[in-house]
Amino acid sequence: VSVAIFFCPLLREFHWGYVGNKSAVFPLQLLGYDVDPINSVQFSNHTGYPTFKGQVLNGKQLWEIIEGLEENNLLYYTHLLTGYIGSVSFLNTVLEVVNKLRSINPKLMYVCDPVMGDEGKLYVPPELVSVYREKVVPVASMLTPNQFEAERLTGSRIESESDGREACNILHAAGPSKKGQGFVDEICALEAGMILRLYLMESRVVITSINIDGNLLLIGSHQKEKGQLPEQFKIMIPKIPAYFTGTGDLTTALLLGWSNKYPDNLEKAAELAVSSLQAWNASEFFSSNYGHGLIDSEEQTALLQRTLNDYRKAGHDPQSSSLELRLIQSQDDIRNPQVNFKAERY
Ligand code: ATP
Ligand code: PLP
Ligand code: MG
Ligand code: NA
Ligand code: MG
Repeated sequence: VSVAIFFCPLLREFHWGYVGNKSAVFPLQLLGYDVDPINSVQFSNHTGYPTFKGQVLNGKQLWEIIEGLEENNLLYYTHLLTGYIGSVSFLNTVLEVVNKLRSINPKLMYVCDPVMGDEGKLYVPPELVSVYREKVVPVASMLTPNQFEAERLTGSRIESESDGREACNILHAAGPSKKGQGFVDEICALEAGMILRLYLMESRVVITSINIDGNLLLIGSHQKEKGQLPEQFKIMIPKIPAYFTGTGDLTTALLLGWSNKYPDNLEKAAELAVSSLQAWNASEFFSSNYGHGLIDSEEQTALLQRTLNDYRKAGHDPQSSSLELRLIQSQDDIRNPQVNFKAERY
């Protein structure tokens, strides 16, 4: 066994970066998945810091890795997860990877977090938006945009719950429709020695956060077959007065992990994912001091509250900068979340 230590943040333990693969891979492994991470960038720290240094993988280099896997017959995957992508050429290569993986496993589920921006600001080149809209949405089995990204993908404003649900409908309509695209559920029936294959298109959309009245709303939508009415639900999330990085990546990874275990129940998958991060449900919130971050009991702690508490204990003001997730310290919350967040079905 060889262990490589690339960086040992001894004194500066809070000042590191849990985004991208660093937020997604460990939780997926905890949920029992074998993960082959490919880093599209390798930076000293995340881009929320004043400066960063490091390398960016280009599309050609990504394709080389795919070729290497293929030459050794290692290209059978059940899921592909993508997050932040910084250029059109890389995103186009990712689309080729989706095709390639589906030519080997037509049931490959492509989970896409279309990371483009947040709170009214785009933080990728503007040319990426139309590629996501025109080429990625039609092949993604599950999309996990935030409010801003869902607006960009649908070209419509989201200011209410019903706007959020309508955005999901628009994304389903633009979503997977052809054989071999999207999540393909194969029903095999033996008929006179022949195998009859029936493909059902599934499309899942989770808008991971919509800001409404100072709180967060998650809206989930599962269209089990093209043209069908989707099953939709919401989860109300009390907003903690702090800014975390990596929570979007973590949420998408947990949604992938749990929805694979509960393929017919996106509601349950979302409850489990949210409950790993959040300690208290919305109704308790309104009758407590949780919103002010005054709850300190260990039993009521989930990942975000633990992160907040750890910063406080170390004497940091949690509102002065973005907080790095206490991911390793929260492994029990990831493995066995206490489901205190209930989805409400529409
Ligand atoms: P993307 O990665 O696509 O930009 P996003 O903007 O939705 O996604 P976040 O805003 O980080 O990502 O939200 C993802 C989840 O993290 C939310 O559903 C919520 O559970 C949790 N979360 C993030 N910030 C807070 C907060 N301040 N208070 C409470 N929950 C939060
Ligand atoms: N990915 C990268 C490479 C980033 O630099 C950042 C933010 O700095 C994010 C993702 C943001 O992730 P999240 O939406 O999970 O907070
Ligand atoms: Mg956000
Ligand atoms: Na998201
Ligand atoms: Mg985000």
